[in-house]
Amino acid sequence: MKHLLSIEALDKADIISILDAVPRIKRERYTTVDTILNGGIWAMIFSKSSTRTRVSFEVGIRELGGSTLFLPANEIQLGRGEPISDTARVLGRMVRGAVIRTFDQSDVEDFAKYSAIPTVNALTDREHPCQVLSDLFTIQEALGSIKDRVITFIGDGSCNVPTSWVFAAGKLGFELRIAAPEKYQPESDVLESAPANVHCLEDVRAAVEGADVLYTDVWVSMGKEKEFQERLKWLKGYRLKKSLHEHAKPGALVMHCLPAYRGMEIDEDLFEEHAETIFTQAENRLHTQKAIIKWMLQ
Ligand code: CP
Ligand code: NVA
Repeated sequence: MKHLLSIEALDKADIISILDAVPRIKRERYTTVDTILNGGIWAMIFSKSSTRTRVSFEVGIRELGGSTLFLPANEIQLGRGEPISDTARVLGRMVRGAVIRTFDQSDVEDFAKYSAIPTVNALTDREHPCQVLSDLFTIQEALGSIKDRVITFIGDGSCNVPTSWVFAAGKLGFELRIAAPEKYQPESDVLESAPANVHCLEDVRAAVEGADVLYTDVWVSMGKEKEFQERLKWLKGYRLKKSLHEHAKPGALVMHCLPAYRGMEIDEDLFEEHAETIFTQAENRLHTQKAIIKWMLQ
């Protein structure tokens, strides 16, 4: 039984196998019908808001011949304290697979363990593996191989998206720079496993020098709203802006996992200049997640 719970737990060969399948899925979207899910119903349990992840999974699962049950966590007994292990054992007998967005990484891992159905991490506080797999595809699609590229993440380096990036760099060998104040650099246990090609810098100007990709995420992740003012204070020097982009490699991609807060983690003009890349990045969630589902069922 395959799950997609984290980049940390994924083998390099599995990452490559998923990414290799995406171009064809994208190319043949409206020309070839693939009904691999054969009417299977997938539960989508969400404890946090979502636009891209929810819509891309709902559309992707239906296009693969399945259907979805959207279950906001606060509308099922999970929200009133029913244990994840019991929820998993019930749903495991009723649905074909599950896509879960929640807070604790241990909840998706427990769900996978107790449900015995393919389970996808659709974002936890720890990782956002579907996002980063999809972003790897977007970079390959735009630049070719990622192996010798420099990816610079700027902003809150301690949240789920950069954590998944650190693990991806460890598996695939590209250079990853994380520009963040010390307080918001990746967690120590993430860095302990970081290879020599992962660099954390407080100096954002040095971090963007010659980079192929500049990438950012929100400063205030879901669940951290109480820290809003403090985060603004610490992160204000880490906004992605034109004057930084000028020091990256000419033609460097600008990426944002979205949703974007202009004037915080990215300037409006730089965002709009790179909107084509950013919204292709969003679209690629759909194609990549179809590849993830097909890989899980192999
Ligand atoms: N990037 C991303 O996961 O977006 P949503 O929160 O809208 O799903
Ligand atoms: N780090 C962000 C990602 C949103 C897609 C969050 O967790 O809110």
